[in-house]
Amino acid sequence: MTENRPVLVSMRGLTKRFGETLAVDDVSLDIRQNEFFALLGPSGCGKTTLLRSLAGFEYPDGGTITMTGDQGDIDLLALAPERRPVNLMFQSYALFPHMSVERNIAYGLQREGLPKDEIRQRVAEVLETVGLSGKSKARPASLSGGQRQRVALARAIVKRPRLLLLDEPLSALDRKVRAEMQLELKRLQHEVGITFVVVTHDQEEAMSMADRIAVMSAGRVEQVDSPVDLYQRPATVFVADFIGSSNSFVGVRAAGGVDVPGLGLLPGHPVGETSSPQAVLVVRPEDLRLVDDASGLITGTVIETQFYGGRSTIAVEVAGHPGPLTLSCQGTADVMRGTTVHLAWAADRGVVLAPQGGR
Ligand SMILES: Nc1ncnc2c1ncn2[C@@H]1O[C@H](COP(=O)(O)OP(=O)(O)OP(=O)(O)O)[C@@H](O)[C@H]1O
Ligand SMILES: [Mg+2]
Repeated sequence: MTENRPVLVSMRGLTKRFGETLAVDDVSLDIRQNEFFALLGPSGCGKTTLLRSLAGFEYPDGGTITMTGDQGDIDLLALAPERRPVNLMFQSYALFPHMSVERNIAYGLQREGLPKDEIRQRVAEVLETVGLSGKSKARPASLSGGQRQRVALARAIVKRPRLLLLDEPLSALDRKVRAEMQLELKRLQHEVGITFVVVTHDQEEAMSMADRIAVMSAGRVEQVDSPVDLYQRPATVFVADFIGSSNSFVGVRAAGGVDVPGLGLLPGHPVGETSSPQAVLVVRPEDLRLVDDASGLITGTVIETQFYGGRSTIAVEVAGHPGPLTLSCQGTADVMRGTTVHLAWAADRGVVLAPQGGR
C-alpha cells in the first residue's frame, strides 16, 4: 500500500494548450515517493504532454509542479529540463547503433563528467540489475527487442533520477516479451527505489504494474486509485467502461439502486456524491449470476456462449435493453443458445454513477 508514503511530486491546476487543443486541462495530482504510478487513457488524452511537462520539454500555460526536496520544496517549473532530477524515457527510445551496450549506458554519465572509475562501476551495476552483464560489448542491432528495452531502461536509471518517466515503454515489444517485461519493470522499480511514472493506453498493463493509476480522458483526470479500487469502485462511467468490461443500465436514481424503464428497480449503491436524478448502474460480468426464476432480477435469452480456456462468457439478450448483457463464469458455460435464463447480482456489486459528463 502506498497511502502513507510522503508525496514526491505535486501538480496543481496544470494546463497546457496547443492552439485550440486543451491537451492538459486543470490537472491536480500527487505522486508519492517510490511509487509505481501509471497514467492511463485513450490516444490523445494528454498523457505524453503531462509527462513532458514534468520533464520540462513542455512549459504549461498554467498551474504548478513542486517536488519535495531534502531542503524544502523545489519549484520544478523554475528549473531547465537538464537541471530537474527527472529522466524521461521517450515513447520511441533510440539507442546509438554504433556504440556497444555499455557505451550507450555510460554516455549520459560521461556527459556529466563523472570520473571513469565511477562510470565503470555504475554501468556494471546497472547491467547486473537489468540482467545484461553478458552483453556489455554487444551492439544494439544484435539484441532482441526485450534486450534493447532493457538497455534503454539501464540508460535511464544509471543517472539515478528521483523520478523516472516512461512513455509507453513496452509498446514496441510483442505480447509475450511484453508480459515478461511488465514483471521485470515492476521488480526493477522495487529494486532501484526510484519513483516511476509510466504512460500506457493498455489497461491490463497499468493494472498489472502500478500501485496507483490516474485514468485520463480529454486532458482531464477522471479518477486516481489503486487498480482494485478503480475496478470495483469506478467513479465515472468513463472509468467503468475503460477499465475492464461492464454491463450498464440507464435509469433514474431510487432508494437501493436505479429504476430502469422496462426492467424495474435494479439494486446497486452509489460511489461518491452525485446529485443528478439520472443515473447509470454498472455491473461487472463476473458479478452477474444465473439464478432460478424466483430470485431473478432480469429475464433474458442466451444468444451466444464463448469459451476462453479457464472461463466462459454468456451473452444474454434482454427485451427492452440495448445490446446483450455479458456474464462471465469459471470453466464452461452449461447453457444452450436460445435458453431462457434469470439473472441476479448482489446489491453491493452494482455501482450507481452519474451519467457521462454529469455530476
Ligand atoms: N506539439 C503539439 N502541437 C499541437 N498539438 C499537440 C502537440 N502535442 C500534442 N498535441 C495534441 O494534444 C493532445 C494530447 O496529446 P498527447 O500526445 O499528450 O496525447 P497522448 O495521451 O500521449 O496520446 P497517445 O496515446 O496517442 O500517445 C492531442 O490532441 C494532440 O494532438
Ligand atoms: Mg503519447
